[in-house]
Amino acid sequence: MKSVYLDMDPGHDDVLALLVALTAFHVKGVTTVAGNQTVDKTYRNARRVLDLAHYEAISVHQGYAHPLFRPLVTASHVHGSSGLDGYRFHPRTREDEILDDAQMWLASEFLHEPDPITWIATGPLTNVAAFLMGNTHFIPHIERLAIMGGSLNKGNITPYAEFNFYVDPDAADWVLASGIPIRLVGLDVTHKALLSPEALERFLTWGSEVGTMLHDIFTFYFDHEPDAGPGGAPVHDVLAVAAVAHPEFFSWQPMNIRVERCHDVHRGQVIVVPGSGVDDRGVEVAIDIDVDRFFSWMWEMLDPYSR
Ligand code: BDR
Ligand code: CA
Repeated sequence: MKSVYLDMDPGHDDVLALLVALTAFHVKGVTTVAGNQTVDKTYRNARRVLDLAHYEAISVHQGYAHPLFRPLVTASHVHGSSGLDGYRFHPRTREDEILDDAQMWLASEFLHEPDPITWIATGPLTNVAAFLMGNTHFIPHIERLAIMGGSLNKGNITPYAEFNFYVDPDAADWVLASGIPIRLVGLDVTHKALLSPEALERFLTWGSEVGTMLHDIFTFYFDHEPDAGPGGAPVHDVLAVAAVAHPEFFSWQPMNIRVERCHDVHRGQVIVVPGSGVDDRGVEVAIDIDVDRFFSWMWEMLDPYSR
């Protein structure tokens, strides 16, 4: 089974990404970043979900509390004040043991990693960029980085920008220019993959605690995600997991892209560099998705939580 490292800011849709990654891959550990909420909360949410799903042995490591060069903007309008509103987790004593060592942990893990590294990032790219800036010698060892972020068309936090790229455009721009082989999954495809309202009932029929948690958090998410509608709500982050597990679910286009860092109004917007199409920096951008194949795989990966 392929090993992966996860960097995330849970976050309702990050939770789905985490649960699917746990059954699809060997997850080596999770680093958390500030984004949907402050980093203490995204850390706590990751820890709580792993414990609830009986993955207590997977370690969580807290990373950056704010973007590289800017104040933090959170998405509490989507994810609530906890970052994962909708479900009341049982208090656990382990939550007090915060490991705020993401950068050190990654360095030690990557140093001892015998295989080429696969990394999946579903929050602002602060941890990833900071790590790579300080550890450029690891860049050749990264086989693939799958990212949920950006949009070739309209944004979701501004008319131009997707949330993860908006929060830390400096990190996003640096990572995309790093030369690492990247699969980028943005709103152009995540807005096609809608979790239907019937899925909420399906979670409940499982009769498991994970099913109840997913039902409750996604009930909240359906009411708060601005792009949710009668057809359902976009699942965003789990598509970055699918991009590693099943790239054939997507249509990919090599592109040379940057992220706007300076202009206030266009902050975080994806810019396709003129002459793009000659893939000189390794960024493959998802431009379409086979939604039916993706969802049937997603439910298969979630099946172990139904018991
Ligand atoms: C992204 O922003 C966050 O709110 C979600 O978790 C996802 O990573 C979608 O724009
Ligand atoms: Ca996220």
